[in-house]
Amino acid sequence: MIWVLHGSCRWWSKDTVAIVTGANKGIGLSMVKRFAELGVTVILTARDTKRGLKAVESLMAQGLHVHFFRLDVSDPDSVKTFVSWFRLKFGALDILVNNAAVSFNEIDENSVEHAETVIKTNFYGPKLLTEALLPLFRLSPSTSRILNITSRLGHFDKLRNPKIRSIISDEEKLSEEQIDNMVSLFLSNVKQGTWKSQGWPEIWTDYSVSKIALNAYSKLLAKQNQGCGLSVNCYCPGFTQTSMTRGRGTHTADDAAAIGALLALLPPQELPTGKFYIAHSNLSNKREALRLGLRVLKFRSFEVHLENVRLKAHQNKVIFLEDGWGFAFW
Ligand SMILES: NC(=O)c1ccc[n+]([C@@H]2O[C@H](COP(=O)([O-])OP(=O)(O)OC[C@H]3O[C@@H](n4cnc5c(N)ncnc54)[C@H](OP(=O)(O)O)[C@@H]3O)[C@@H](O)[C@H]2O)c1
Repeated sequence: MIWVLHGSCRWWSKDTVAIVTGANKGIGLSMVKRFAELGVTVILTARDTKRGLKAVESLMAQGLHVHFFRLDVSDPDSVKTFVSWFRLKFGALDILVNNAAVSFNEIDENSVEHAETVIKTNFYGPKLLTEALLPLFRLSPSTSRILNITSRLGHFDKLRNPKIRSIISDEEKLSEEQIDNMVSLFLSNVKQGTWKSQGWPEIWTDYSVSKIALNAYSKLLAKQNQGCGLSVNCYCPGFTQTSMTRGRGTHTADDAAAIGALLALLPPQELPTGKFYIAHSNLSNKREALRLGLRVLKFRSFEVHLENVRLKAHQNKVIFLEDGWGFAFW
């Protein structure tokens, strides 16, 4: 897949600074690579220094220079140390990609054995990091951005308990406390062994709840920062060939990251906030997107000019492609 970025859309420079979490492999590493190829200054972070430096070396071998710092998003001390280092070294931030996540489920299995770790890493991790970095966003006219890598498994309709679904879906009244309450209730149901009968998502239950919480928090954060020069959006990369899926999937991490980078780098005047993008690579996913009431965007070919994407996205039209790739948004 080749994305052609039109010159007039290029609002960033080497002074534009991006942080990507969980970037020693998978979609995170591909996002870092894409940002570096496009001339953004990027900090590759990883919870394991050895694995992180190996990833940096792999990029150097491709002629790409990136910065590295260790960051375990589930560890408040690590977040604190990272943010202090970042403040001293860079001072200001433009783009944050909260990508790091875990799942302990095999594709067709569902266990909640590691629910606490999953929630701590996939929801509280990005939340903690985001809150620590908020004061460092540059808030320039090009607008700062947060892209949270979430999942369609975190769509609110996966909640089968109507009361919880209605609280989480109510954008007007949604609060941090309500999201925390939902997560605490889930963890307590897990502890009590009652989670199966309480209407939680049926597939990859703990992972889904973590992503529902992250999607809801993203909506809330977007609303709180509306008009302040900070956009907050979510992106589901679709079924991607990474460690998380044991290498299964309909497309590569580079494919998923190409769209992710495009969304993160949308021109300021076209940058939405509070949206949930879903990449899909086949018709059944497209049907799912339509079923969920998502607006679907498609691409005629992989060689898309960002300007065209911008134009058509703006008009909320269908754009599109030969083999089914595209993305949708809420
Ligand atoms: N692959 C898919 O089909 C798919 C679909 C929808 C959404 N997603 C989302 O896409 C994102 C990337 O996933 P992926 O598919 O690229 O999976 P992956 O290859 O397993 O990569 C996950 C990354 O997160 C890191 N990580 C885990 N816990 C961490 C922590 N506490 N602190 C910092 N880093 C941590 C991992 O580091 P280690 O190497 O040290 O474990 C790894 O670098 C995730 O948010 C995932 O939920 C993936």
